[in-house]
Amino acid sequence: MIRCYHTINELAAELALEFRQFALNALAGNRKVSIAISGGTTPRAFFEQLAWIESNQQQAIPWSMINLFWVDERCVPPDHADSNYRMTRESMLDKITIPAENIYRIHGEANPSDEARRYAKIIESIVPSLEGIPQFDWILLGMGDDGHTASIFPDRMDLLTSSSVCEAVTHPAKDSNRVTLTGQTLLQAKKISFLVTGATKSIIIRQILNKEPGSEKYPAAYIHHRTSCDWLLDKQAAQYLKIQCRDKY
Ligand code: 6PG
Repeated sequence: MIRCYHTINELAAELALEFRQFALNALAGNRKVSIAISGGTTPRAFFEQLAWIESNQQQAIPWSMINLFWVDERCVPPDHADSNYRMTRESMLDKITIPAENIYRIHGEANPSDEARRYAKIIESIVPSLEGIPQFDWILLGMGDDGHTASIFPDRMDLLTSSSVCEAVTHPAKDSNRVTLTGQTLLQAKKISFLVTGATKSIIIRQILNKEPGSEKYPAAYIHHRTSCDWLLDKQAAQYLKIQCRDKY
């Protein structure tokens, strides 16, 4: 399903309401759900909307029903400017009532390979598996200007078929280390939502969603071509697609 919004804030506001309903359904079913979120810059508006719901809406989000994981993390301390955890903490975690024990941070300060092993064990102990692969209830992904997703970059397509739950990887352009979920873990999820905004991604979005020849070189395309994904785009990112942007809901 592809949804286009006039602005990132409209995208974030609607996704936050969808997230709340997802959590309320978990409460109604009395079953905790495991959600993995991405970092970078796009999700910030979404996280801020979730924090806003917490402080402004009658019907709060039952955070006790959510185990929160990360799709990837930069190998830096949690208070570093590049830390995905820090971005999430500042935009949301410090403003919501999620139990601390429900937050499963990737330890960016640790040795990358050791942390990939530790995090995989944590995931395997908390997230129910299907055919031996942990199955997240919902994974929220971003996409880089080069078509990467999570921290699976085009020069490491092997991570898409790795038999590990997560792996340590080096960012090709920044020579910085990361820990990332692998392709098999992403593909096992019950629900995947890509949040992509900005004109710089519009050509790759067109190539991937139209399944154009050559799009397979993008890790985000690999995921899209192998499972059902929702795409939440702003007008700039969707400019080459023949879809209508949703009016304010
Ligand atoms: C990260 C993310 C990464 C991100 C894309 C898009 O750690 O950077 O997990 O996969 O989703 O790079 O980033 P932007 O949202 O900043 O464009």
